[in-house]
Amino acid sequence: NPVNVAIVGATGAVGETMLKVLAEREFPIRELHLLASARSAGEKVEYGARKIVVEDLATFDPAGIDIALFSAGGDVSKEYAPKFAAAGAVVIDNSSAFRYDDDVPLVVSEVNPEALRNRPRGIVANPNCSTMQMLTALAPIHRAVGIERINVATYQSVSGTGRRALEELGRQTAALLNFQDPKPEVYPVQIAFNVIPHGGDFQDNGYTSEEMKLVWETRKILGDDSIQVNPTVVRVPVFYGHSEAVHIETREKIDAARARELLASAPGVEVVDERTGGGYPTPVTHASGNDPVYVGRIREDISHPRGLDLWIVADNIRKGAALNAVQLAELVIAE
Ligand code: A2P
Repeated sequence: NPVNVAIVGATGAVGETMLKVLAEREFPIRELHLLASARSAGEKVEYGARKIVVEDLATFDPAGIDIALFSAGGDVSKEYAPKFAAAGAVVIDNSSAFRYDDDVPLVVSEVNPEALRNRPRGIVANPNCSTMQMLTALAPIHRAVGIERINVATYQSVSGTGRRALEELGRQTAALLNFQDPKPEVYPVQIAFNVIPHGGDFQDNGYTSEEMKLVWETRKILGDDSIQVNPTVVRVPVFYGHSEAVHIETREKIDAARARELLASAPGVEVVDERTGGGYPTPVTHASGNDPVYVGRIREDISHPRGLDLWIVADNIRKGAALNAVQLAELVIAE
């Protein structure tokens, strides 16, 4: 049965991909409403062969909407998600506004789909992009041998920050190649030809908010508060695709061959692990524009008896945001 769908933040980096993913997967849509701020209301956006006019969220009546996909930032979600839910929609929210609320499930479609059913507020939270790809790959290992501790350094692309950050990387790159001043606006320092060990806001413990998301979300999604997570989040001058160097310590020893086998049969995961030039995933060669979470460089940690190293790469806008949101919507309509 086709349903009525709204995308809130439809003109943004994630919203635009939500639209693309809905079309690719032939999501059964009756009415489709594309919502954004008054700034872009009236613009036309292509959906397959059709052109859809963007509507102003502030004046939109949510009555009759079955599924609302939100990706317009935390403040917009806090204000409007409860209104859409009260009008009868199931809200799938890509912001961090509700992720840590006990009565809002936080769901990776391949990892804890059963959590989706318990949503007393009509709101489901989509995890942070870095958590999403890390857990899609680590959940099968956790189920098999138990993960005690995760050390992770991320190499996050600028698309995770939104459309203005994509423009900033392009603008700064062009400026620098023309011997001009790169002028940082979105990021605190130059991002082109640089790396920045800072995502979100600094916390009292010295970690950043993007780092603490990896800690809290991992525990909530795996339903295990004993898992220790030690993250460093780094922004790199890549347009699309996040990479992660992940070092885990498991309860029982797992060797690289067994880990590779588990990952090869894990849903949503593709192993690329050839131990030759190019035999590993990168954002450009594998992840960008594609759905899977790619895993390579799988090896036993020479510094720890129960340690395993992995390199995990995915398109942060797809599996990290839009694709998982649409997969959750598919699970909702299948109920
Ligand atoms: P708009 O294009 O009208 O500003 P990104 O993360 O790529 O920057 O995209 C953010 C998305 O959220 C855009 O679609 C943007 O719409 C939308 N958005 C931001 N603020 C609001 C708001 N106050 N009301 C509705 N939509 C908003």
